[in-house]
Amino acid sequence: MMEIPAPSPDPLADRPGADAARPLDARSLAALAHRHLSADALAYLETGTGRETTLRANRRAWDRVALRPRVLRDVTGIDPSTTVLGTELPMPVAVAPVGYQRMFHPDGEAATAAGAAAHGVLHVVSTRCSVPLQQVAAGGGPWWFQVYVLRDRGLTLALVQAAAGLGAQALVLTADAPVPATKRRCPTLSMPDEFLFANLPELVAASDPDRWDRTTQAPDLTPATIAWLAERSGLPVAAKGVLHPDDARVAVTAGARAVVVSNHGGRQLDGAMASARALPAVADAIGDTALVLVDGGIRSGVDVLRALALGARGVLVGRPVIHGLAAQGSTGVAAVLDRFRTELVEAMRLAGATRVPEVGADLLEPIPGQAGQEAPGGTR
Ligand SMILES: Cc1cc2nc3c(=O)[nH]c(=O)nc-3n(C[C@H](O)[C@H](O)[C@H](O)COP(=O)(O)O)c2cc1C
Repeated sequence: MMEIPAPSPDPLADRPGADAARPLDARSLAALAHRHLSADALAYLETGTGRETTLRANRRAWDRVALRPRVLRDVTGIDPSTTVLGTELPMPVAVAPVGYQRMFHPDGEAATAAGAAAHGVLHVVSTRCSVPLQQVAAGGGPWWFQVYVLRDRGLTLALVQAAAGLGAQALVLTADAPVPATKRRCPTLSMPDEFLFANLPELVAASDPDRWDRTTQAPDLTPATIAWLAERSGLPVAAKGVLHPDDARVAVTAGARAVVVSNHGGRQLDGAMASARALPAVADAIGDTALVLVDGGIRSGVDVLRALALGARGVLVGRPVIHGLAAQGSTGVAAVLDRFRTELVEAMRLAGATRVPEVGADLLEPIPGQAGQEAPGGTR
C-alpha cells in the first residue's frame, strides 16, 4: 500500500532556497529549529507543566481575540515605534527572558543580544543567563535584566548591580516562580557548570556544598522586594508573572513601574488562565499608573496588534526567538524579529492604525451585553 506522507506545516518550507527567499512563519521555523536541538534542549524549550493546559490555552486565547478593523483612514505611513520605561523601541515587541540559551546555540545569549541589537529590539536577559553579562552588553542593543531573587540575597544584589553597571536599563522581577515547577516531559536538566554559573564564577568551584541552595529561587517574595530592588539598583522595576488585577495594583503601589501579564509560557502553575484572557482586567486595574506588557503564545504581528488592542503597551516573545537562535544563531534571531515587525506593520495598516497609541479597544469585536457594546480593555 502506498504511504501518503503527512503534510509539513508549510509545504514550501522544504523547497531548496525557501529559507532565503522568504521569512519562515512561526511553525515552519519551529520545525527547522527542532532539527538542530538535542532531545534535552528540545524538552527544556517546548515543555509546559502538568498536563500543559496553560501552554495550549495561551496560544488559543490569542486566536479567539477577533478584531474589528477601521477603514477610510490614510495608512500610507506606519510607525510601530514606542517607548517603554524610558527605553525607545522600534516596535512594541521585546525578547522575553529565557534561561540557559547555550543549550540552544553555542553562543547562547550573546547571539540573541546581537540579533536583537541588529534591529534595536529590547532584550530581557535572564538571571539564568549562560554567558557572562559582558557578552550581552557587547551586543550594543537596549537590554533589561530579569531578576530571580535567589535565596542568597547577597548574590542576587551582586548580579543586579553588575547588570546595572553594564547598562541594563530596567529590572524585571519574576514573581510567578517561587519554586521551579515540575515538568513531566523535562524532569531534570543537566548542563555544564559554566552554563549554570556563568555570572557567578565564584560558585563554579564545586567546593561550595551550599551552591545549589544559595542559587535556588527564594519563595518569600513580598511587595517590599520591588522597592528593595529599585533602591539598590537605581533602575525602574517591572513585576513579571501577574495575572490577578489586585496583584497588579499591589505591585504598582509597591513601586513597580510596569507589570508583565504572564504565566511563564505555561511553565509554572498548570491550569493558570491564558495571559490574553488576564490582560484586559489587569490593564483596567492599572490604568495610567504603570505600563502593562504581556507574553505567552504570541506568534505573529496580528497577535501583537491584539495585545495592544487589549490594553498592553508591548509584548515579550519567548520560544519563537529561540527557534531563530537554534536554527541560525544571531541571524535567525534578527530574522524572527524582522518578521514580527513586518507583520505588525501590515496588521496596523489593515486595521487602520498608523501609530501604536492609535491601537485601542475600538479594534476589538464588541462583546454583546457589555456597557456600550464595547470589548474589555481600555484605550490606553
Ligand atoms: C526555555 C525557557 C526558559 C525560560 N526561562 C525564563 C527565565 O529564566 N526567567 C523568566 O522570567 N522567564 C523565563 N521563561 C518564560 C519567558 O520569559 C516567557 O514568559 C514565556 O516564554 C513567554 O511565552 P512564549 O514562549 O509562548 O512566547 C522561560 C521560557 C522558556 C520557554
